[in-house]
Amino acid sequence: MKSLVTENHQVFVSKGPKKCHIITFGCQMNEYDSKTMAQLLMDDYQQTPFLEEADLILINTCSIREKAEHKLYSLLGRLKRLKKRNPTLKIGVCGCVAQQLGERLFERMAHVDLVIGPQGLYRLPILLKALEEGEKHITDTTLRDDFDIPFIDAPLPRVGDVRAYLTIMQGCNNFCTYCIVPYVRGREVSRPSEHIMKEIEGLIEQGVKDITLLGQNVNSYGRGLNENIDFTGLLKKIEKAFGKDIRLRFTTSHPKDLSDELIDCFKELQSLCEHLHLPVQSGSNSVLKRMNRHYTIEAYLEKLEKLRSLCPEITITTDLIVGFPGESRDDFQKTMELLKKVRYDQAFAFKYSERPGTPAVNFGQKVPEEEKSKRLNELLELQNQIGLEQYKKLEGKVVEVLVEGVKGDQLVGRTRGNHIVNIEGESELVGRIMNVYIEKACHHSLNGKVMH
Ligand code: SAH
Ligand code: SF4
Ligand code: F3S
Repeated sequence: MKSLVTENHQVFVSKGPKKCHIITFGCQMNEYDSKTMAQLLMDDYQQTPFLEEADLILINTCSIREKAEHKLYSLLGRLKRLKKRNPTLKIGVCGCVAQQLGERLFERMAHVDLVIGPQGLYRLPILLKALEEGEKHITDTTLRDDFDIPFIDAPLPRVGDVRAYLTIMQGCNNFCTYCIVPYVRGREVSRPSEHIMKEIEGLIEQGVKDITLLGQNVNSYGRGLNENIDFTGLLKKIEKAFGKDIRLRFTTSHPKDLSDELIDCFKELQSLCEHLHLPVQSGSNSVLKRMNRHYTIEAYLEKLEKLRSLCPEITITTDLIVGFPGESRDDFQKTMELLKKVRYDQAFAFKYSERPGTPAVNFGQKVPEEEKSKRLNELLELQNQIGLEQYKKLEGKVVEVLVEGVKGDQLVGRTRGNHIVNIEGESELVGRIMNVYIEKACHHSLNGKVMH
């Protein structure tokens, strides 16, 4: 019997004779990379939702926390049996864990054929050919400082999407002391604006109406390019060419680099949606210092104040880490106070996870696992309450919703402020912007009805 892998796999449309199954863990950037892989393989492979009938299984991995890495091992354990039954099956591990482990992955998992880091994925067709010609255990995990992101001139491998991600830069130069990203994604590299504009044009032609620009630190966009452009310049260029056709978003902006000019864009640019994800990580200045974040809570709050005075309805979300080495009860209380002060619409909170090769591994005063869990629960309890109160502010209001898809017998859409809205209606409305009356707020979503 065929079994579907329902979690984390994406179905792409393509026409090749062989069958491929792509599984994606991790952030939006990995989702974007999986789409690129599907585009690169389009002529040779069609995508299958069934693991059993795949000739090629590609796993795009994330290494941000230990848990993410474990997901890969348990999946590879399951795939061992599949490979025994079908020895011609090829298994490729891509992305951030691939970069982190390189050849060492073969020692633990000999049934893996291919290990490719985030910069190597563009060579996927060549590497697969080498495998077919009999080469074994191929690795491509070189991280080059002079790497350029190639332009993939191929149609979107998934039709009917209303929303799309678009990577504008890769890598990170910030070296926050807890974070593995700079080691697995390499140095920052921006894509020429011409490539980005061309890609947006293609997305719009295929019906996309909501685009999120991606980068680990979008504020550094433009550095090292042969053109005179920075991130706000890029936003303005996109607005000028496509402002009436799309909703525009971006992630992630580092608080230290959030400029007045970028804050102004939320007021000036019609296409830019009223949502900012601004990861704060901790409410304590001494923790922030040891995290190498280069801002104080006072400076962070000042920027938010400016933003809210220009754009009062803006949705603010954040990321938080609890139990960073040396985080005292008092430091943690400061994070709780910050939540009360800022009143985030949503916060993604994580227990600190030690990552190999990062400076924080050598920091003293580790917080015990049990204490981390306790702090995380306390924090989530408070944030759930604040988040719901924030969402409740929209009850009784009429908001602009872009209908993105169908879920069960309902439609699912999104406000400009990034709230998910469930509405009654027919599937013909997918892709349309509707005025919706919000009847009820729930945790992380809203229920509403279309105004006629
Ligand atoms: N570039 C983005 C974040 C990318 S990683 C930024 O600078 O904000 C997404 C989130 O994962 C981070 O914001 C952080 O909250 C969390 N994270 C990163 N490393 C972590 C670690 N070692 N343990 C726990 N959470 C971590
Ligand atoms: Fe990691 Fe910091 Fe870079 Fe974000 S800015 S990816 S948290 S090192
Ligand atoms: Fe994970 Fe790599 Fe993204 S570590 S969060 S997939 S950049």
